[in-house]
Amino acid sequence: MTRDDMKKMAAEAALEYVEAGTVVGVGTGSTANHFIDALARIKHKIDGAVASSEATAQRLQSHGIPVLDLNAVDELPLYVDGADESNKYLHLIKGGGGALTREKIVAAVSRTFVCIADDSKLVDVLGAFPLPIEVIPMARSYVARQLLQRGGRPVLREGFVTDNGNQILDVHNLEILDPVQLESELNQIVGIVTNGLFARRPADVLLLGTEQGVRKLT
Ligand code: A5P
Repeated sequence: MTRDDMKKMAAEAALEYVEAGTVVGVGTGSTANHFIDALARIKHKIDGAVASSEATAQRLQSHGIPVLDLNAVDELPLYVDGADESNKYLHLIKGGGGALTREKIVAAVSRTFVCIADDSKLVDVLGAFPLPIEVIPMARSYVARQLLQRGGRPVLREGFVTDNGNQILDVHNLEILDPVQLESELNQIVGIVTNGLFARRPADVLLLGTEQGVRKLT
């Protein structure tokens, strides 16, 4: 079984969390793409979707699923998205695809956040995957110096511009022992739009595709 098969297995399992007559929050990335393709099969049961990126909006629309502005939605019972890493507390690193800001907004609004991934994403300590940080371009060097002072090694994601017109620093060398504290600390650095730690608002459910089937962590 390939990693992609495991991602697809987790994505299919997330369908059972979709409630009829509601709007679904949809994440970004290859695992989320499998979820979108699965959601298309039951599109007549939902009122539409809120997208966490332009790429996701396009894929939803290509399946004929209505894409709604988050501001037009009263409540979002469910958000389904992938992750780059998760620990057993369902604290996540996200943003490998660069969509972290809109992902964090949709996650904040949603009542239940179901994270879908293959089992290689579950780690003991977050940080082997470089932490993505979206920065306002004029603050890039200042933010990079602040990250160096905290022991990180920030690397500019070359040639990449986010959906919000900003840049991404991928921060290497972090061993993140207290994700909630680090997320809060990074939120205080002027010029950072969003950091890729999803710990203050973690996932509620993690569905992992494994060789043995879908494993559920809560
Ligand atoms: C997108 O910005 C990310 O947060 C993705 O959710 C993450 O990179 C997972 O991507 P894959 O599903 O492609 O592994």
